[in-house]
Amino acid sequence: MSALQASEQRSDQDLVLRVEHLTVGFPLGRGIVQAVSDVSFDLARGETLGLVGESGCGKTSVGRALMQLPPPTSGRVFLSDTELTGLEGEALRRTRTRLQMIFQDPISSLNPRRTVGDIVAEGLRIWDRGSVDAKVHEVMEAVGLDPSVHRDRHPHQFSGGQCQRICIARSLALEPEVLICDEPVSALDVSVQAQILNLLEDMKQRYHLSLLFVAHDLAVVKNISDRLAVMYLGMLCEIGDADSIYRQPAHPYTRALLDAVPDPDPDARPDHDRPSLQGELPSPVDPPSGCRFRTRCPRAQDRCAREVPAMEMIATDHAVACHYPLTDD
Ligand SMILES: Nc1ncnc2c1ncn2[C@@H]1O[C@H](COP(=O)(O)OP(=O)(O)O)[C@@H](O)[C@H]1O
Ligand code: SF4
Ligand SMILES: [Mg+2]
Repeated sequence: MSALQASEQRSDQDLVLRVEHLTVGFPLGRGIVQAVSDVSFDLARGETLGLVGESGCGKTSVGRALMQLPPPTSGRVFLSDTELTGLEGEALRRTRTRLQMIFQDPISSLNPRRTVGDIVAEGLRIWDRGSVDAKVHEVMEAVGLDPSVHRDRHPHQFSGGQCQRICIARSLALEPEVLICDEPVSALDVSVQAQILNLLEDMKQRYHLSLLFVAHDLAVVKNISDRLAVMYLGMLCEIGDADSIYRQPAHPYTRALLDAVPDPDPDARPDHDRPSLQGELPSPVDPPSGCRFRTRCPRAQDRCAREVPAMEMIATDHAVACHYPLTDD
C-alpha cells in the first residue's frame, strides 16, 4: 500500500485532530532549540494515541503547540474541520477549550490560594451560576471526589493522586473532545498510578474523549494505546497501530525503547543479544545531519548522515522513518 492510499484510508475515519508538519523552535543564545521538527499525525474520535520518547525529545512541546501555548513556529493544527493555527483572540480561546491538557505535576498546576470548587469552575465563568455549580458537582463526582466535602478545601489538603483528579475534573468541566495527558502519572506513587490510568480510561468512555497520551516509558502506554507515535530528538520515528509496533518494531530506536521495558515475567532471562541504547542524546540546538538517531544507531550507514529518512508505510497503519528498517531483514 502506498503512503497516499494509507492516508486516504485514515482520512475516511472521523478524525478529531490533525497535525501537519508541526515545528517548534525556542531561541537559545545565538541558536535555536529545535524542540519539534516536521511532526505530522492524526487522532480518530475515540482513539488513544500514545506519544513516547526519552525525556527532552519534544513531547511536551508538541502538546503545548497543539494548544497554541505557545503556537508552533510553523505547521497546522486542525480540530475536526476547524484550523486552530491562524485563529486569534476570542475565536482561539473558544475553540481551544475543545482541547484540554493535564500535566505531570498536578500540584504545581493548581493555584494554592483557591478552593477546589473554584479551580474546577475556572473555565466556566461565562456560564450562569446555577449551571456552573451543577457542572462542578458532576465532574467532581465523576473523578471520585466528594463535592460536598472537597469543594471548599484547598489543593495542599490533597495527595498527588487526588490533585491529578482535580486537574482531570477541571479539564472535563469544559467538555473537551481531546484530552492531552502529559505524563499524568510519572510524578505519582506507583500505587496510585494504576488508579489514575483507570480513571482516565473510564472518563474517556463516559465523556467520549479522544486521548493523546504522552509518556517517556513504553510500559505505561502499552495497555492503553490503540496507536503509538515514537519521537526522537524532535522528530517522529515510527507511528501506527500499537499491536503492530509492539509485535514488530521497524525503527531501531523503537526497538531499543521496547528492549528497555522490563519483562513482567520474573523468571525471564535478560536477552543479552539485543543491544540496548548506547551513547548520549545529542543537543537539539545542533542535531545530527540526516537521521537524527544515527549517532546512536547500530544499523547506521553513510546514507543515514546524508539523507533525512522520509516516513514510509510498511503495513496497514504502520509507518517508519528509517533507511534500513528492521522489517527489511
Ligand atoms: N520554553 C523553552 N525554552 C527553551 N527550550 C525549551 C523550552 N521548552 C522546552 N525546551 C527544550 O526543548 C526540548 C524539548 O523539550 P520538551 O518538549 O519538554 O521534551 P519532553 O516533554 O519530551 O521531555 C528540550 O531540549 C527542552 O530543553
Ligand atoms: S535511518 Fe539509518 S541511522 Fe536512522 S534509524 Fe535507520 S538505520 Fe539507523
Ligand atoms: Mg515533557
